Amino acid sequence: MILVTGGTGLVGSHLLYKLTSEGEKVCALRRTNSKPDLVKKVFSYYTSDFEKLFQSITWIEGDVRDKISLDKAISGVDKIYHAAAVVSFHSDDKKIMKSVNIQGTANVVNVALENNIKKLCYVSSVAALGYKNENGYITEKNYWKAAKFKTAYAKSKFQSELEVWRGIYEGLDAVIVNPSVILGPGNWINGSSSIIHRVYKGLKFYTSGSTGYVDVRDVVNCMVQLMESDISGERFLLNGGNLSYKEVFGTISTCLFKKPPRYNARPVWLEIAWRLAKVWQMVSGQKPVITRDLAKAAFKTNYYSNDKVKEALHYEFIPINQSLEDNCKLYLKDLEVKIQN
Ligand SMILES: NC(=O)c1ccc[n+]([C@@H]2O[C@H](COP(=O)([O-])OP(=O)(O)OC[C@H]3O[C@@H](n4cnc5c(N)ncnc54)[C@H](OP(=O)(O)O)[C@@H]3O)[C@@H](O)[C@H]2O)c1
Repeated sequence: MILVTGGTGLVGSHLLYKLTSEGEKVCALRRTNSKPDLVKKVFSYYTSDFEKLFQSITWIEGDVRDKISLDKAISGVDKIYHAAAVVSFHSDDKKIMKSVNIQGTANVVNVALENNIKKLCYVSSVAALGYKNENGYITEKNYWKAAKFKTAYAKSKFQSELEVWRGIYEGLDAVIVNPSVILGPGNWINGSSSIIHRVYKGLKFYTSGSTGYVDVRDVVNCMVQLMESDISGERFLLNGGNLSYKEVFGTISTCLFKKPPRYNARPVWLEIAWRLAKVWQMVSGQKPVITRDLAKAAFKTNYYSNDKVKEALHYEFIPINQSLEDNCKLYLKDLEVKIQN
C-alpha cells in the first residue's frame, strides 16, 4: 500500500491519478475540512472512468502535525509520497509553514523510520537550493545559503528537506525532488496554476525576471520512476524550461485570446504596490495579491538545470510552451462549463 500526503493538492491529486490508474493500492491523508472534490476533477481531465479510480482511494483523516494520526495512517503502508505543505508568500503564514512544513516533515520521516518503510519520496522545491553556479545555472549541487531576503517559504522548505536528509542518515531509503514552478490543471484560483487565471482576468504589467517551470505530469512521472528505481539518498531538480515572465505571460495571453501585458513594471512600482497592499490588508482583513516576497522574486533571473534527472531516468520533459498551451485549453474548457451552469 502507498501513502500519499497532500493528495488534495496540485501535485498530490495528479500523483493519485497516476498511481491509481497503474493499479496501485493507495491511501491518502486528508484534513477534516479539506475538499477531495478537486481530486475527482483532476481525474476527469485524464479519463471518463474517473469515479471508479477515485473510489479506489482509501481516505484517512489526519494532519501531518499530528503524529498520532500518521501512526494510524501508516498501517499496511510500504511506500510514502510526502507532498503536503503550506505554499505561501505571505509573511503572516510563517508560523504555520514552520509547523506544517518542517515539523510535519519530521513527523512523516519519523513514522517512516519507526515502521521500516521501504522508500519515501519527498517533494521539496527549487526554493531549497542555493545560488547559480559559474555557468549561470542552479543545480542540485548549489547548496542553500541563509540570507536576510530569503522568503519564509524557502526557509521552511530548506529546513523540511534537512529533516529528510536526517532520515536518510538514520537509514531511510528516500529520494527528494526539487520542482520549479509547477503547471497543471485543477485549482485555477489558488496555487501556481492561478497564473493562467490572472492573465485571463487581465494583466497590464510584466516584470523583467525569469524562472523555471515544469508540467505536473513530468513531476509525478519522475517521482514514480525515482521511487521504482534503485536510486536513494539523492535529490533531483525537476524543471521543464526557463522562461522570462514576459514570455510566459505572452504565451498564456495568446492561448487565451487575450492581449499580453504591455508595461514593463519597474522595481519601485512593486515596492510601492506591496506596501499599499499591506495597508489594504490591515483595513480589509483580506490577504493581498502582491506581497513583499513576490515583488522581490518578480525581478530575479533564475535558470535551473534538469541534466541530472534527464540522465538518471533518460527522461524528456514536456516543453513549457506545450504545457502552457495544454493548461490554457483546459482552463477555457472549465470556464465554458462554469458559464453554461
Ligand atoms: N506548486 C508549485 O509550484 C510547487 C513548486 C515547487 C515545489 N512545490 C512543493 O510541492 C508540494 C505540493 O505542492 P502543491 O502545489 O501541490 O500544493 P497545494 O496544491 O497547495 O497542496 C498542498 C497540500 O498539502 C495539504 N496540507 C496542507 N497542510 C496540511 C496539514 N497540516 N496536514 C496534512 N496535509 C496538509 C493540503 O491539504 P488540504 O486539502 O487539507 O488543504 C494539500 O493537499 C509542496 O511540498 C510544495 O512545497 C510546489
